[in-house]
Amino acid sequence: MTDMQRKISRRELLKNTTAAGLATATAFVPMHPAIAQQAKVKIGLLLPYTGTYAALGHNITDAMKLGLAEAGNRLGGREFELVQLDSEADPAKAAANTNKLIVGAKVDFLSGPVHSGVAMAMAKIAREEGTITIISNAGANAVTREMCGPNIFRTSFSNWQVCFPMGTEMARRGLKRVVSVTWNYAAGKEMIGAFREGFEKGGGAVLKEILVPFPNVEFQANLTEIASLKPDAVFAFFAGAGAVKFVKDYAEAGLKARIPLYGAGFLTDGTLRAQGSAAEGVFTTLHYADGLKAPANTRFREAFKKATGRDADVYAVQGYDTAQLLIGAMAKVKGDSGATKALIGAMEQARFDSPRGQWHFSKSHNPVQDVYLREVRNGDNAVIGVAQKAVSDPGTGCGTA
Ligand code: BEZ
Repeated sequence: MTDMQRKISRRELLKNTTAAGLATATAFVPMHPAIAQQAKVKIGLLLPYTGTYAALGHNITDAMKLGLAEAGNRLGGREFELVQLDSEADPAKAAANTNKLIVGAKVDFLSGPVHSGVAMAMAKIAREEGTITIISNAGANAVTREMCGPNIFRTSFSNWQVCFPMGTEMARRGLKRVVSVTWNYAAGKEMIGAFREGFEKGGGAVLKEILVPFPNVEFQANLTEIASLKPDAVFAFFAGAGAVKFVKDYAEAGLKARIPLYGAGFLTDGTLRAQGSAAEGVFTTLHYADGLKAPANTRFREAFKKATGRDADVYAVQGYDTAQLLIGAMAKVKGDSGATKALIGAMEQARFDSPRGQWHFSKSHNPVQDVYLREVRNGDNAVIGVAQKAVSDPGTGCGTA
């Protein structure tokens, strides 16, 4: 089956399955390139605006808007429109939501999501449809491994990339027996898996991997189990409102003083105000830290604060970089959003000063970036070292990696 045949048969299927898809799919008439040039560029955003990941979705969106405003609110000279859709961080709704944006709203570019399960469904459809897609958070490894595609880019991280270095670091610190705890879905399982890989390589052992249903925040039974296992340390992945609750519960249960808490950086990013003293002393690894000294970071943090009244975090940085990628590529093709090949080429070559530092894409379209070791000190994710420099996801199974 050719790509075009696949595209048509998918659209035929959609005609029979969604009323919105039917109306827009049958009315679809290809635009003359000159007319397409005059219309607004449409960017579909599939992000969580409600639920445990709502704050993440808002920071990504607002930082994208900031980046676009700084570029004069034009993409390659053209006006644009952001078509925002609440993903609810719900994988069950992800295919329908992606179709609403690609087939219904006919977006030129697609971006989001936060949740790895949503990303898998979104990337599969985007790959089939050929829509240029920029993943602005979700770390699902497969997206830049076996599911990779020429039109799929990620400005954030892979789940492996941010957690493997922590496994190595914890082993280097002489920790031997660790318990890991996370939500039971792709991101959580891949993060604790990557941590385990690094930790076991360094001679450590994982006593137990505790999986909590997503987005459950009732942790008491899990904390009791951790206390009874008496590990040297705990490694955790939670994010957003769930991370706030876990870190507070961990401290309130009296565990922090006895069993040091480590985690993927999402555990303490964008959450510190709400976590208060409970987060002090928590160690994490991430591809960003608030206090990075690069001028691009200082300037971005000030601009984000001024625009939103909130402090920037890793999610805001990823949204901002997503905008930079789009701005640069659309400038290269002088606003011709239909010039897919040239746009992809421009994105592949993109090099810019991100607030997190200089980075570039690997062959599988995932950033190659430093992963920092951070400790929460005085309400800040202080950088105490680089856990691993220029980390590249292995890109296994991609074919281009
Ligand atoms: C994920 O599902 O990939 C994810 C969600 C929140 C923070 C980091 C990763």
